[in-house]
Amino acid sequence: MKLNIAVLPGDGIGPEVTAQAVKVLKAIAMEFNHIFTFNYGLVGASAIEKTGNPLPEETISICKKADAILFGAIGNTSYDLNPDAKIRPEQGLLGLRKTLDLFANIRPVIAYEEILNKSSLKKSQIKDTNILIYRELTSGIYFGEKKLSDDGKKASDICEYTQDEIERIAHLAFKAAHSRKRKLTLVDKANVLESSRLWRRVIQKMEPQYPDVKTNYMYVDKAAMELIINPKQFDVILTENMFGDILSEEASVIVGSIGLLASASIGKNHAMFEPIHGAYTRATNKGIANPIASILSAAMLLDHFGLDDEAALIREGVDKSLKLHITTPDLNNKYDNISTTKVGDFIEDFINHPDETNLNFTNIHLGQSTII
Ligand code: IPM
Ligand code: MG
Repeated sequence: MKLNIAVLPGDGIGPEVTAQAVKVLKAIAMEFNHIFTFNYGLVGASAIEKTGNPLPEETISICKKADAILFGAIGNTSYDLNPDAKIRPEQGLLGLRKTLDLFANIRPVIAYEEILNKSSLKKSQIKDTNILIYRELTSGIYFGEKKLSDDGKKASDICEYTQDEIERIAHLAFKAAHSRKRKLTLVDKANVLESSRLWRRVIQKMEPQYPDVKTNYMYVDKAAMELIINPKQFDVILTENMFGDILSEEASVIVGSIGLLASASIGKNHAMFEPIHGAYTRATNKGIANPIASILSAAMLLDHFGLDDEAALIREGVDKSLKLHITTPDLNNKYDNISTTKVGDFIEDFINHPDETNLNFTNIHLGQSTII
């Protein structure tokens, strides 16, 4: 298969983790005889620095021409501390989501057997957790009208949804539930918010179209608690934009590190793949950033094109790296010298030589090539 992939490394640790995902995709292309081409674009704080614009026209054009987009991370602490900044790195990501109409953000939350002890939660509680969060990505409070009064003393953000916006992501979530454990939980705040009541009404009306899916309804405050005390009860979670942002980051506690959570942002004509974590500016170029979320986002990219064996091989490589403690310091208290690049190299090696007899287990932690 020929795939033209736009790569937007972005800010902070974005470039280093994305480089590992590209490396892994190149190994997959070699192994399975695909032709993947990569076109790089600027976005976020680094784009502001170079062009004054967090989402330059050229970047939009690269993305529109691409079959898929691989996105790194966005943000910079200097903006975080300046609420008055009119131009912000995040506008690059939000603008991209809106321009390309990437309305469905899919975030898998999987408790990996190999690292159950890395979570601050009890093993027995998290074991076998496998949740798919469907987060609406192009509407809601993120994109509603924003106002600040002239005297700067009053501000508002409108949360707006239409029936169509809810239906299009709900169909995807119902279908996903149908192919999994057949349970869909709509997370909302329907006891308070009109927009949530619309979500609930729309989903209730859709239920008969998916008779084999059991639909549940849960308020977001309760869901925040249930995710921690009994995450195994969830299969597919469907929710609006901001609740999805918050709950998915909370869910990373189950997995053990936010550096493991990948995502796919899907629209009708475009698809982007991005880790759920931010730019982690203070870790930039220290070699400590976990590249697995980015690598698993690349696996989701392959899923999107039906390249199931290819995606499965990446996931096997990730499992193996977790099992052998070939992981960055966020997960590793056994070896302290496993860098971002080393994790990428290991998974690349694994793809080139999936038969584990080729792996040099004795020296695997020394930062040497893992191939004998
Ligand atoms: C995410 C991020 C973004 C969001 C930020 C960087 C704008 O937190 O993808 O979860 O809030 O959607
Ligand atoms: Mg977030």
